[in-house]
Amino acid sequence: MEKIEKIKQAYFRLAEEVNNSEQLEQLRIEFLGRKGRVTEAFAMIKDVAPDIRPKFGAGLNQLKKELEQHFKKLKEEVEGQAADQKAPDVTMPGRPVFAGNRHPLLKIADEIKNIFHSFGFTIEDGPEIETDYYNFEALNIPKSHPARAMQDTLYISGDVVLRTHTSPVQIRVMEERKPPIRMIAPGRVYRRDTPDATHSPFFHQVEGLVVGESVTFADLKGVIQAFAHRMFGKDARVRFRPSFFPFTEPSAEYDVWFNGRWMEISGAGMVHPNVFRSVGIDPEKYSGYAFGMGIDRVAMLKYDIRDIRLFFENDVRFLRQF
Ligand code: PHE
Repeated sequence: MEKIEKIKQAYFRLAEEVNNSEQLEQLRIEFLGRKGRVTEAFAMIKDVAPDIRPKFGAGLNQLKKELEQHFKKLKEEVEGQAADQKAPDVTMPGRPVFAGNRHPLLKIADEIKNIFHSFGFTIEDGPEIETDYYNFEALNIPKSHPARAMQDTLYISGDVVLRTHTSPVQIRVMEERKPPIRMIAPGRVYRRDTPDATHSPFFHQVEGLVVGESVTFADLKGVIQAFAHRMFGKDARVRFRPSFFPFTEPSAEYDVWFNGRWMEISGAGMVHPNVFRSVGIDPEKYSGYAFGMGIDRVAMLKYDIRDIRLFFENDVRFLRQF
């Protein structure tokens, strides 16, 4: 009788845990199957002392009936649940439609394009995989020039590089077109930089180039000032600092003040005569200015972002804010 009680307890303990059809089948095999524990117990009847045999037999019959009845109910429950799961629950609230948004850098690039477009600039494009000639040589940066170390890059092969700046687009446009030229060229650039809060091995620039018969540094300052006011509002200030680039002379860098801080935005300067010579434009007749604005910098200043890496990590918690 103890044996019967044990089987019963074991069955109910296991039945308690059943919640899918596989577990249900397991339970059936273990207790009610052809080699199950109940069937096994029946086989023991012949070994039981004759005087208690009838009682044992009756107990077993009772057990079998009880387990079968319980099993039947359990089976209905489990199958019912499975059916419920398949049927759609029309009372559930709908799934919200996830509306994405443009990447903050694309938004800023669009704003920059719109502003310069309204100033009469054309929008140009150039390859991200460049030749040494366009990226360096034609911009008055010969092979041994120390400025190369500052902009060391990822080489595809000896003469093919990932462009380190958008300035090669200046050359490509001047080769194709005669002045007057008034263009910008936004795009991605690459440098061999270790990522930190202000450096990334790739980032974004907008090149600007204006060439004409009497273009001056004052024009450059005026356009940048006008740009800063359109982008950041009329409280924004611009300051120019002397700098050096092999392809401009004189050269400068400018910072924009907005939201309580100065941010270095761009290099700039008057197009170097050697650059004009490399594209067959007469430097005695024409002058021009150029700038290479950091799109990521503009976005960091405008949105008060302190770490450039946030733009490239694709964390939706960050991206959703724009
Ligand atoms: N190409 C320069 C840079 O990436 C920026 C620049 C562009 C400077 C045009 C002067 C004129 O640092």
